[in-house]
Amino acid sequence: MSQSGKFIVIEGIEGAGKSSAIAIVEKLLAAQGINFVKTREPGGTPLAESLRTLVKSPDLQESLTPECELLLMYASRSQLVHNVIKPALNDGKWVIGDRHDLSSRAYQGGGRNMDDAILDSLADITLKGFKPDLTLYLDIDPKIGLQRAANRGELDRIEQEKIDFFYRVRDKYKSFAERDDSILVIDASQDMAKVHADIEAQLRNYLQNIG
Ligand code: TMP
Repeated sequence: MSQSGKFIVIEGIEGAGKSSAIAIVEKLLAAQGINFVKTREPGGTPLAESLRTLVKSPDLQESLTPECELLLMYASRSQLVHNVIKPALNDGKWVIGDRHDLSSRAYQGGGRNMDDAILDSLADITLKGFKPDLTLYLDIDPKIGLQRAANRGELDRIEQEKIDFFYRVRDKYKSFAERDDSILVIDASQDMAKVHADIEAQLRNYLQNIG
């Protein structure tokens, strides 16, 4: 009988170090002989990748309403969950997600000040109770994160938001982490070696607990 895989998500604002965190998770799972696929949001299917390009573009010919932005995020997520994530999990594979629903909670809920109840109902329609088994949230002061992102090159549409937007995003991330045991907070302002060690320790602990 095949056992269902686990869905592990990495979250955080721009410049928090998601990519290297994902590399660590990949390495650890591979070392344990665990088969996995990687996803990113928005994106991860042909249709969802088109929505990603749209939603990140700094050169849209019109302003994107917050509602449209929110719906595009959930449209993308719906395609990804139904066409990629669930089939992989059912196949016994693990999924490493670069962002998931918590990003909408933080960016649209926090950053854009949208009502939690609106997001709850969209999540109900799209996800029907589906949620990650483990989320590692990389917490960093937006001042540091955005500086790192700016050093990497041109900023996308969302990265061009003012710093207050990202402080609201961070607050929302933290408030969700406080009330959900499956969201673990990693202090991403520490030096890189310590951040990586913390990620590895948390993941090893998780793997041990699920036996
Ligand atoms: P990134 O994955 O390269 O960081 O880019 C994704 C951008 O989209 C990032 O600025 C966060 C934003 N985003 C939302 O605003 N809401 C969402 O639900 C998701 C998944 C991403």
